[in-house]
Amino acid sequence: AKKGRVFSGARPTGRQHLGNYLGAIKNYVALQDEYDCVYGIVDLHALTTMETTKDLKQNTLEMALDWLAAGMDPQKSIIMIQSHVPELTELHTILSMVAPLGKLTDLPTFKEKIRDQPHNINYGLVGYPVLMSADILLYKANAVPVGVDQAPHIEFAREMARSFNYRYGKKVLIEPEMKVTQIPKVLGIDGERKMSKSLDNHIEIAATPEETTKRVMMMVTDPNRKLRSDPGNPDICNVFTMHKMFSSPEEVEMVNTECRRAGIGCVDCKKLLAKNMNAYFEPFRERRAEMAKHPDDIFAILEDGSQRAHIIAAQTMAEVRDAIGM
Ligand code: ADP
Ligand code: NA
Repeated sequence: AKKGRVFSGARPTGRQHLGNYLGAIKNYVALQDEYDCVYGIVDLHALTTMETTKDLKQNTLEMALDWLAAGMDPQKSIIMIQSHVPELTELHTILSMVAPLGKLTDLPTFKEKIRDQPHNINYGLVGYPVLMSADILLYKANAVPVGVDQAPHIEFAREMARSFNYRYGKKVLIEPEMKVTQIPKVLGIDGERKMSKSLDNHIEIAATPEETTKRVMMMVTDPNRKLRSDPGNPDICNVFTMHKMFSSPEEVEMVNTECRRAGIGCVDCKKLLAKNMNAYFEPFRERRAEMAKHPDDIFAILEDGSQRAHIIAAQTMAEVRDAIGM
C-alpha cells in the first residue's frame, strides 16, 4: 500500500533546466513508488504573470516531454493540466471566502511580485496561494514536495484546510505536510544566483551535447583562482558541486584533491563535467527525441491524467458542497 497522496505543480515554463531537474523532477520520479502522485502543469498559475499565451501550448509540450522522458510515469502517477479540472476554480472561489487578505498581501512572494512587476499586480496574483491551496486540498494531498521558499504557501494551505473545516463543521479537507526537497537551490552558470531561465544562467537538460558543453565551459569557478598554477577551492566552486551530482565518487575525489593543489585546471575540470553530464542525460535525450515525434500522444497522456484527476476532484467537491450545505 502507498503512504498517501502527493500533489505538486509547476508552471509550464517550457524546456526544463538542471535546477528544475535536480530540485524537482528527480524527486517527483522517486516519489512515484511510495505515494499516489498527482503532478500538475499549472497553467492557470502561469497566467498571473504572463502577458501573452502564444507559447503556452508549446511550453506545456516541452515540459511534459522533459517530465515523461525523465521517468514521470503516467502508469504510476496522474500527470495532468491544471485548467482541465474545472472543480479547481470552484474550490478556489470557495476558499477565497476564508482566505485572510492581509495574510496574502504580507507573503514574501507577493511582495517580490510587487517589486518585479509593479505594472501588473492583478487580483489573481494576490490569490496565487489560494489557488495553490485549492490544488493541494482538492486532491486531498497528504504531502507536497516543494523547495523551502514555498514553506509559507504550504502553511497557508494548512490554514485554509483548518479554516474551512472549522467554519463548516466537518473535517473534509486534509492538512498537507511539506516535504522539503533535498536539493533546494541549484546555482546557475554564474555560480551566484539560483539557476533560472529568466536569468539566462541555466543549462537545459534536453540540450545537445555541444550546447551542454558550451554552457558548462561558461561556468564561473572559484573567483580567487586566476592562474592555472593557482590552487583552487572546490568548496566554493559550483563546478565541483555539479561534479558531485554527475561524476563518479573517484572522479569527485580526484577533482577535490587536484583542484586544491593546482593539479587540474578549470578547463579540464569543466570538460570532465560536461562529458559526465552528457553521458548521464544521453538515455533521457534519446527517449525524449522519440517521444517528441508524437506530440498528440503527449497531449493524450495529459488529457487522460486530467480525467483521472477530475474523478478525485469531483468526489472532494461533493463533500465540500455537502459541508457548506449547497
Ligand atoms: P514554478 O514557479 O512553477 O515553481 P519554476 O520553473 O520556478 O516554476 O520551478 C519549477 C520547480 O523547479 C520548482 O519545484 C522549483 O522549486 C524547482 N526549481 C526551479 N529552479 C530551481 C533551482 N535553481 N534550484 C532548485 N530547484 C529549482
Ligand atoms: Na518556483
